[in-house]
Amino acid sequence: MKVLVIGSGGREHVLAWKLADSPHVDDLYVAPGNPGTDDVATNVPIKDTDIDGLLKFARDKKIDLTVVGPEAPLVLGIVDTFEKAGLKIFGPSAAAARLEGDKAFSKELMQKHAIPTADSRTFSDYLTARQYIAARDVPLVVKATGLAAGKGVIVCDEPSQAIRAAEKIMVDRIFGLAGRQIVVEERLYGQEASILAFIDGQNIYAMEAAQDHKPIGDGDTGLNTGGMGAYSPTPIVTDSLMQQIEEKVFVPVVHAMHRNGTPFKGVLYAGLMLTPAGPKVIEFNCRFGDPEAQCVLTRLKSDLFEVMLATVEGKLDTVTLQWDTRPSVCVVLASGGYPAKYETGKEITGLADAGGLPDTWVFHASTKLQGKKVLTAGGRVLGVTALGDDIADAQKRAYKAIEKIHFDGMYCRKDIASKALGI
Ligand code: AMP
Ligand code: GLY
Repeated sequence: MKVLVIGSGGREHVLAWKLADSPHVDDLYVAPGNPGTDDVATNVPIKDTDIDGLLKFARDKKIDLTVVGPEAPLVLGIVDTFEKAGLKIFGPSAAAARLEGDKAFSKELMQKHAIPTADSRTFSDYLTARQYIAARDVPLVVKATGLAAGKGVIVCDEPSQAIRAAEKIMVDRIFGLAGRQIVVEERLYGQEASILAFIDGQNIYAMEAAQDHKPIGDGDTGLNTGGMGAYSPTPIVTDSLMQQIEEKVFVPVVHAMHRNGTPFKGVLYAGLMLTPAGPKVIEFNCRFGDPEAQCVLTRLKSDLFEVMLATVEGKLDTVTLQWDTRPSVCVVLASGGYPAKYETGKEITGLADAGGLPDTWVFHASTKLQGKKVLTAGGRVLGVTALGDDIADAQKRAYKAIEKIHFDGMYCRKDIASKALGI
């Protein structure tokens, strides 16, 4: 079979690495890919949002299955275009991808179907939003409703901060057009968990739970990022909590999308806050998480190609997911300054040494080649992932591998997975 993966980050590197392992996959392409995906597949220089270019490539090469990594092409309707052309593609339609691409839509859907989530209001007008916020005396969170690379959320302690956040998003447009509308919601407290599930339109098959670390600083301080590290499984997500999450979150949302005539197919990601009142949805994403995918997929023993094909064909009930019982930890190495200003083009050394350690992988998130040298090319640069006998062992192995890697300004959180260890 010929498979095309779309995207260029750490998530796409782990997807390609895992798909390359399937005996069904003869030819594997990644568009546009990165120097890491080039080791396990053939990179094709087509941008992930160039839907016409990707369609032409898939037709010319007679691709049997296309797998979409990031949200942008999904929200733009790549699945609709490919399906219309009779091509198999893994991911939701544009209408279903609104669960991520339009927070106002997903909040409305959750409210309508009593899916537990933070109380919220949506605003299209800054002055009305300001009036509303000024009258509230609880901590609030202000969110751009459109796509903002995981950064469109400002968590506030005081109404004055929330007013400034609304102004920055709606008036100064710090997240561009994504900030035409905002959602203002109550701030929730608790630990977070990312639950990802394969959905084939009707059937739901949850993967093992993961926990991301969104803020840039140790102890969850500082600005939010795309994710600075993750681990799986998450001990606080017990079997009974998982069952509750499936019943109260996944079943109603999947049924609602199906009944609305916009069935969800692909991976649905529920970002949850585990509050004293039970799990509440912070956000839905319409694809694998990054870096959650690095943790979850290094633990998946089953053939990812078979699972994805079954999802696309509406036969998810015919497959079983098998997991390595060993936990995994992924630590993101970022460019100094990220998520604000940072420099790129720094030479990275030690990649082979780190990746050569047992049960350890260095997934490339944002790198580029210059001759034989690998250079940094973005904010989140690498995701160093290790399996271990327990979480402490996996954490130790990931950080040990990191000691071998160097680039100027390299930054990582030092406490990824510490929460699971009660540290
Ligand atoms: P989102 O992009 O919606 O997942 O938000 C990014 C991050 O902001 C989340 O992972 C949380 O850490 C934080 N966040 C979002 N919504 C809330 C909320 N209602 N209460 C507390 N923190 C939140
Ligand atoms: N790690 C968070 C996300 O992928 O959205």
